[in-house]
Amino acid sequence: MQLSNGKTLTLILLSALLLGSEVHIESHHLVAPDSLQYKQPSIVSGRTDVVAVTPWLAPVVWEGTFNPVLLDSIYKPQNISIAVTVFAVGKYVMFLKDFLETAEQHFFIGFNVHVYVFTDQPTKVPQVKMAAGRQLTVCSVPSSKRWQEISARRMELIQTLIEEKLQNRNDFIFCLDVDSKFHGRWGTESLSGLVAVIHPGYYRDDRSRFPYERRPESRAYVGPGQGDFYYCGGAFGGLLQEVHQLAKTCRSNFEADAKEGIEAAWQEESHLNRYMWINKPSKVLSPEYLWQDFKPRNPEVYIVRFSGVVKNYAEIRPNV
Ligand SMILES: *[C@@H]1O[C@H](CO)[C@@H](O)[C@H](O)[C@H]1NC(C)=O
Repeated sequence: MQLSNGKTLTLILLSALLLGSEVHIESHHLVAPDSLQYKQPSIVSGRTDVVAVTPWLAPVVWEGTFNPVLLDSIYKPQNISIAVTVFAVGKYVMFLKDFLETAEQHFFIGFNVHVYVFTDQPTKVPQVKMAAGRQLTVCSVPSSKRWQEISARRMELIQTLIEEKLQNRNDFIFCLDVDSKFHGRWGTESLSGLVAVIHPGYYRDDRSRFPYERRPESRAYVGPGQGDFYYCGGAFGGLLQEVHQLAKTCRSNFEADAKEGIEAAWQEESHLNRYMWINKPSKVLSPEYLWQDFKPRNPEVYIVRFSGVVKNYAEIRPNV
């Protein structure tokens, strides 16, 4: 009797474990409702002016390569939840209002979104009316004297946030620059395990011109003839566990470099580029997903979804 009770308990525990992993698998299983009508997909006609897949067969997301209605109806029943981090330290708090307001208009509309604002001035976080299912949490951080330090600590804060607050509560996370605004849809088409965004400044250039860290003694080093694309430090994301691994690795490499007196050319962006070269992103977002306001739109960019605002560095950075 006792033995059989023990067995029953083991079975219950096992089924709970299996059920847990089943739920997990389910969230990567793309189930479409059979009632949905949509445009017939084609494999012989489509965009010909851009490349929509990487050499390791990850999609590159451009306008015209996906059906937003189809994607939303696949993800909607899964009740997914998206965490977002933004860092608004020092004068960067001035960008929060536009960032938050435009996110309400364009970022994962109709989904659960939880924005985490990291700031040294919690009282200056603007009140922005958020739709049902969307919320904001303010996290206090100490002020930093150098913007390079603020940038360096981001990976640590992302790592800690995932470990302490997000496990089991969110499915995906995006880490975004605050000095930017949304101008068009950013939604379920961007979901994947590890998601990188192509930097708008270099995507037509030879990789010898990418501003990777070029000193072999740095842990962010990418050598001549190496690297795939130049990715943005200002936007990346994916599944929680993937982004946790990225943040943890970049942070420890950054700190190990610092102990030896090395600061990579573009701080965390350099470390992220090294990481994404070794750990290939499972989805790559085109420069539509992080443009720069001062840059004229190139013809292959049909829509700018998210873009860095023009700013006066001398005015907002504590030191340059
Ligand atoms: C959907 O997710 C939200 C946020 O994670 C949660 O509060 C809500 O209870 C979920 N709804 C259902 C029907 O599971």
